[in-house]
Amino acid sequence: MDAKTKLCCLIGNPVEHSLSPMIHNMLSERMNINMIYTAFRVESGMLEDAVKGAWALGINGLNVTVPHKCAVIPYLADIDPLAAKIGAVNTLVRSESGFKGYNTDITGLGRQLDEENVTINDNSVIILGAGGASRAITFLCAQKGARKIWLLNRSLSKAETLAREVNGYFGEVVTALPIENFSDLPKGKYPVIQTTSVGLFPDTGCAPIENDDFYEYVSDGVDIIFNPSETKFMKKCRKHGARAHNGLKMLLYQGIAAYELWNNVHVPQETAREILDMMEREIGI
Ligand code: ATR
Repeated sequence: MDAKTKLCCLIGNPVEHSLSPMIHNMLSERMNINMIYTAFRVESGMLEDAVKGAWALGINGLNVTVPHKCAVIPYLADIDPLAAKIGAVNTLVRSESGFKGYNTDITGLGRQLDEENVTINDNSVIILGAGGASRAITFLCAQKGARKIWLLNRSLSKAETLAREVNGYFGEVVTALPIENFSDLPKGKYPVIQTTSVGLFPDTGCAPIENDDFYEYVSDGVDIIFNPSETKFMKKCRKHGARAHNGLKMLLYQGIAAYELWNNVHVPQETAREILDMMEREIGI
């Protein structure tokens, strides 16, 4: 560290368990870039001051996590169009007039899907859940050219609201269904993206759909959860012959996408792999 060291940081509440400092500091070491990354717990009432203060101090970039991903938008100078539709940002990049907001959670998932050869373009896709994570992922799938998105949620009204909103931008692509009515889906094999919190540590004994008949529809099961590394949803997918993926690569690639925006570099695949190995060791996979 010296007087030229660039600083990037995470703001959220809580932040103490975040893997982002490890990801970014290792990236700087491997990429030989004079940047450090740390995390600040920011209370909701202090968010505007935190963003203005970061700007005043010349901070190069920020990641934003729960609960500030939507609330931070009014304090931005500019916003990426897809992030604006989603209504949530997780990465702020310094520009001439303030910070510009991006949603690299979504870029991260897009990169993971490409790497795992999960085809969305011109395919039909099932998304489980209709909360904040699902919202971003439903927009991503529509943007990636999904032919049909089946949005299955416990509360139908939430799925219907999200479907209407995405369809307003992309045409009639999303259909909402109550999660227990999965047998109304046309028979076939679909990529399924699991966005609910069901199965997250410590409730590892639950899956969002317990009925084994559902898993006959799955070609690839992508869970956004990475703790545990194999959720019950993933186990059920594998038991029925589907491929299954956890959310660790999504986390890695959201970080890499932010790092690339801040530093105007491309992180090579070997470096990404090395960092993924370190993340797996860190969370004990
Ligand atoms: P996030 O921002 O992480 O997506 P959220 O907005 O609270 O979190 O959304 C949680 C999602 O998990 C919702 O789709 C929720 O379903 P409801 O809309 O019906 O509440 C889903 N979820 C949470 N607990 C669930 C459970 N036990 N069974 C099925 N779905 C559940």
